[in-house]
Amino acid sequence: MTAVTDRPTVAATPAPARQTPSTILGSGIGEGLLLKPIRYQWAYDLYEQAVANTWFPHEVQLGEDLGDFARMTEEEKHAVTFLMSYFNPNELLVNKALAFGVYPYVNAPEAHLYLAKQMWEEANHCVAFEYVLETFPIDREQAYAAHVQTPSMAAKEAFEVRYISRMSEQTLDINTLEGKRDFIRNLVAYNVILEGIWFYSGFMVALSFRQRNLLRNFGSLIDWVVRDESLHLKFGINLILTVLEENPELQTPEFADEIRQMVLDGVEMEERYNHDLLPNGILGLNATYINTYVRYLADRRLEELGFEAHYGVSNPAKWMAAANDTLELVNFFEATNTSYEVGARTS
Ligand SMILES: [Fe+2]
Ligand SMILES: [Fe+2]
Repeated sequence: MTAVTDRPTVAATPAPARQTPSTILGSGIGEGLLLKPIRYQWAYDLYEQAVANTWFPHEVQLGEDLGDFARMTEEEKHAVTFLMSYFNPNELLVNKALAFGVYPYVNAPEAHLYLAKQMWEEANHCVAFEYVLETFPIDREQAYAAHVQTPSMAAKEAFEVRYISRMSEQTLDINTLEGKRDFIRNLVAYNVILEGIWFYSGFMVALSFRQRNLLRNFGSLIDWVVRDESLHLKFGINLILTVLEENPELQTPEFADEIRQMVLDGVEMEERYNHDLLPNGILGLNATYINTYVRYLADRRLEELGFEAHYGVSNPAKWMAAANDTLELVNFFEATNTSYEVGARTS
């Protein structure tokens, strides 16, 4: 038989060269399959840091906190339960936002590596909070029900779901101006507001018990979650800024106002929620104190996005700054976490 030489065959198809997309956004499934050369070094650096930070919930002996929990007041127990009611489903909600709203619209493989690790971390956080529910005498059904039955908690979730719903609609085209705006809105809703403000506010309350020498092991679990979340936030902010830089048509005063207003709306929702979290206050902590911290966090997030601070309040929880500084984020790559890194722990 005569070989057909004038048309391509499977064997003759040349190996694909890395197709460098012109921007970080895109939806070509065939693109972004070759890692090197790395274009967005920050994404790969964050991936490496995230891998070094790997931890497992049962490394913490949570049972040792049971004595403390038994001695705590009803209001204090309510606060821990309320936090679990919020954190548990929302860790999974963040994963949906990554899977439906971020991963499909990003082409850079280094960003995909990071997102894959982040998704495992959110799963790990969910399991960590399940470990809390299993260990402490908390009614799981009641805790689960609260995220839809408590209006201030349900409102936060409804706000987030609105953005991810849009990202999973068939009509969303990431190549259009409106599609790119939706991508940014979704990142602001999840990375900046949910992870960067609401979660941090909850972490502060969770860690406040350790400040009073209570729930120290629970505090260690939260430390590890916070360390992961600080990278999630860093990745999200970098991604937002990269998309804005690569798509200058997004940089309009109207869109900037909308983003800024989203953050301010997020603060209002959190303030209502914190009144339900601590209706009467516990030792050293009440809703006003937490909400000042929320405003402080919101100002930092606004600045990280390039806005002016809005509230101008100082950090009421300076002890949080020592343990889990939001400013550490700025110098994150200089920071060393040797006591927690996998390599350090096993050596
Ligand atoms: Fe998380
Ligand atoms: Fe996260």
